[in-house]
Amino acid sequence: MKLSTGRIVSFQHKIFSWWTTHKRDLPWRHTRDPYRIMISEVMLQQTQVLRVLPKYREFIERFPTVVDLAKATSADVLRIWKGMGYNRRALYLHRTAKIICDQYNGHFPINYELLTTLPGLGTYTARAILVFAFKQEVPLVDTNIRQIITHFFFNDQPQKESVIEEVARQLVPSGKSWEWHQALMDYGALRLARARSGSLIKASRRTSVPFKDSNRFFRGRIIDRLREGDIRESKLASEFKKKYGKSDDFLKSILQELEADGLISRSKAGIISLPE
Ligand code: ADE
Repeated sequence: MKLSTGRIVSFQHKIFSWWTTHKRDLPWRHTRDPYRIMISEVMLQQTQVLRVLPKYREFIERFPTVVDLAKATSADVLRIWKGMGYNRRALYLHRTAKIICDQYNGHFPINYELLTTLPGLGTYTARAILVFAFKQEVPLVDTNIRQIITHFFFNDQPQKESVIEEVARQLVPSGKSWEWHQALMDYGALRLARARSGSLIKASRRTSVPFKDSNRFFRGRIIDRLREGDIRESKLASEFKKKYGKSDDFLKSILQELEADGLISRSKAGIISLPE
């Protein structure tokens, strides 16, 4: 869909004038360091801003540069990640930091294709780095921005990703890609998401597994337990049975998953720990 210049300019004006009074002061907006942008964007992918704020500060204090993160052990990184969930994200960040140091001399490539080859960096995160660290004029589409576009340009009717992207691309104001995307993030979070949340949350709850019964819940509890220290598998099995009434076989299958994902190590003697 080709937008007229008038429509583009008036929409840009609407968002920017709302933003002058609703701008959020967030720590990752004070940096253009691609490493810090990456950390914030990966944290923000599945976690709300309020929970990310203290964790982002803690993470950056402990690992201020990509070199510091690359030098850490996976166990250190997983320990800092406590409370964030989706622990694999922490391992991906660690692996990416090592690759940036070993293969890119410590500098992030300013190149979409290369960025997407890095562990844990998908289309969205690669573009977020290009926009927020390097001010490139590429369109960024996350859940909120997709909703803004379907709301204002398609009457809330869901569209194919390519259609949304084409509109997003036309809307990016020349020379103001950084501000534009930050403004859309705020608009989506503070204004649009709230207005539409009732129906959306109800719709997604109907089909999802309750978190407490999901493998992800138990995977998270095991990593939490290992943050306290190593443990023998048989002891973990008895703790698990007592706490959650789960069988040894169930625990075994979850441990296998975690090991395959590189989130735990198992010694020959049956001791489970966070990976080195
Ligand atoms: N979510 C993802 N990126 C964000 C940003 N830069 N600011 C606020 N929320 C975000």
